[in-house]
Amino acid sequence: MNSKIIQDIKQEITGMAPGSALGWLADAFPGQIVFSTSFGWEDQVITHMIFSQNLPIKVFTLETGRIFPETYYVWNRTMEIYGQPIHAYYPQAEMVQEMVNAKGPNSFYESVENRKECCGIRKIEPLKRALNGNKCWVTGIRAEQSANRQSMENLEWDEANQLIKFHPIYNWSLEEVKNYIKNNNIPYNTLHDRGFPSIGCAPCTRAVQPGEDFRAGRWWWEDQSKKECGLHAVK
Ligand code: ADX
Ligand code: SF4
Repeated sequence: MNSKIIQDIKQEITGMAPGSALGWLADAFPGQIVFSTSFGWEDQVITHMIFSQNLPIKVFTLETGRIFPETYYVWNRTMEIYGQPIHAYYPQAEMVQEMVNAKGPNSFYESVENRKECCGIRKIEPLKRALNGNKCWVTGIRAEQSANRQSMENLEWDEANQLIKFHPIYNWSLEEVKNYIKNNNIPYNTLHDRGFPSIGCAPCTRAVQPGEDFRAGRWWWEDQSKKECGLHAVK
């Protein structure tokens, strides 16, 4: 049944520009469609599409408590420019407290298990709360970002969260993203100009060298194959 829903929606939105597809989905799922932003380039493009068209899509961020000062800056600037709310979901204080008291503030460097525990507490648990009761989740994922992501589709059924997932600019190149930002004068995270194509938490993100992968700077000390934090299930 879920694959039928996906097929039906695909038929409706195929060929539409991303902003129009977002509008179509906002009409189809009133009050039950949300967009997650971590304020990266891609997310800023989608935020602009939502806010400039006044689409009734709730914009939220998972505030892990470990993000870069530059990310706070672009978050604040975006609220100032568009005058629309961005909802923050925080981890549960007790869970963070227990983990940090037991293992210290930087336990994620010590093992993949510890890293997943931290992502679980700071991102996944709050994500569940943010998605609860919704039918459609919009993200800034692009195919080009990693080999894993090339095997996704722009519209898919998310089994783990039991909802429809839509990646409006899934097929855009980085060049298209940058041009859209420039042409529409959209605020963006200045770390992008300093070698950070993909930006997550500060202690878990570094700049990449020319020629390195988009996501090479994320959890750089880990084996390449493990580099998803669990927000986005890998097939
Ligand atoms: S991650 O899984 O490695 O962290 P990535 O940083 O590539 O994901 O971002 C892909 C998409 O996941 C973003 O476009 C955004 O929709 C969502 N996302 C990632 N991190 C967050 C966050 N902290 N808060 C909200 N959404 C996020
Ligand atoms: Fe914790 Fe790093 Fe995951 Fe952020 S990216 S939640 S700091 S392990």
